[in-house]
Amino acid sequence: MTSYDELKKAIEALLDPSYNLPLKDVEGLKKLTVGPTGIVEVEVALKDIGGSVEQNFKIQLIKLIKVTLGFPGAKVKFVRNQFTPKGVKKITYIGVASGKGGVGKSTVTANLAYALTRLGKKIGIIDADVYGASIADIFNIPDAKPTGTSEEKMSPPTAKGIEIISTAFFVEKDSPVMWRGPMLGKLLNHYFYGVDWAPNIDYVLVDLPPGTGDTALDIQMYAPQTKMLIVTTPHVNASSVALKAGLGARKIGHQLIGVVENMSYYLNPYNEEKDYVFGQGGGQLVSEKLEVELLASIPLNRPEEGFLYEKDEVNGKIYDKLALKIIELI
Ligand SMILES: Nc1ncnc2c1ncn2[C@@H]1O[C@H](COP(=O)(O)OP(=O)(O)OP(=O)(O)O)[C@@H](O)[C@H]1O
Ligand SMILES: [Mg+2]
Repeated sequence: MTSYDELKKAIEALLDPSYNLPLKDVEGLKKLTVGPTGIVEVEVALKDIGGSVEQNFKIQLIKLIKVTLGFPGAKVKFVRNQFTPKGVKKITYIGVASGKGGVGKSTVTANLAYALTRLGKKIGIIDADVYGASIADIFNIPDAKPTGTSEEKMSPPTAKGIEIISTAFFVEKDSPVMWRGPMLGKLLNHYFYGVDWAPNIDYVLVDLPPGTGDTALDIQMYAPQTKMLIVTTPHVNASSVALKAGLGARKIGHQLIGVVENMSYYLNPYNEEKDYVFGQGGGQLVSEKLEVELLASIPLNRPEEGFLYEKDEVNGKIYDKLALKIIELI
């Protein structure tokens, strides 16, 4: 009969298909016991669980235990592996979510990235808004394309020093995107595992699509440690949906870093008074209910050029402060 040590060694030699490394190297074997009748109970942590990756691994594992090593039975359990193998840089993802569309998620993502860059951070952006990708337009690189690298990863194009991956790079211009769940998952999989970010990357900001569900769940699967920034406008409608997005994100285990209220007021240039065009209090309400800080209130203001505020513009200064706070919080 095969000894416990031989069994352990054999299982630890199996490759985690996502890391392409033996379980031993990624601390993937969590529990292993052999019962009195020879039934093997094993708990394995894989980088990706669920779906075909887990299914194929399970078949391989059971075959090894029963057919190759001759044990009478096997009980297998899978959990997600949170381990970061050496040499694989752990990326800090910051998701930007709002629930409601049109409140300025992409604007906040892009300008926050720009402000963080001004503060000396190396930033990447994933435009995960598959149906309404706008980051490439904001950075004025609508025709950019990622290039391939040796390890079958893609190198992201850069604008203003920021590395950018967007769905806009992979679809034909002005044609509708009609992808269903599985394809979407594949794409997100590429965004989270298939990008060769600069080695000194500090944070990757993720512009999430509007809505409170699907993509957030996907991201939970790919990047469970993602930190979430919630964007809302002062308007009650936007804030109630933003609150839902925040609660949803927390429920699936994302850490909330704070709330940003966008389009908070219009500063009347003639009398310097704040005109609360969309009402007041949305950001405050969401931050109180989520018990996180309201990190910034950003007024309505058109950038002097394009879509990015420079550091000497009113909004640029506000973004600089926001960026500083975020660095402190992370
Ligand atoms: N503070 C602001 N002042 C003036 N215009 C703004 C401000 N914030 C955003 N906008 C403008 O509002 C519009 C919507 O913003 P944006 O595209 O960033 O929202 P979004 O939440 O990403 O929308 P979607 O749900 O479509 O992805 C854009 O035209 C943007 O330029
Ligand atoms: Mg957007």
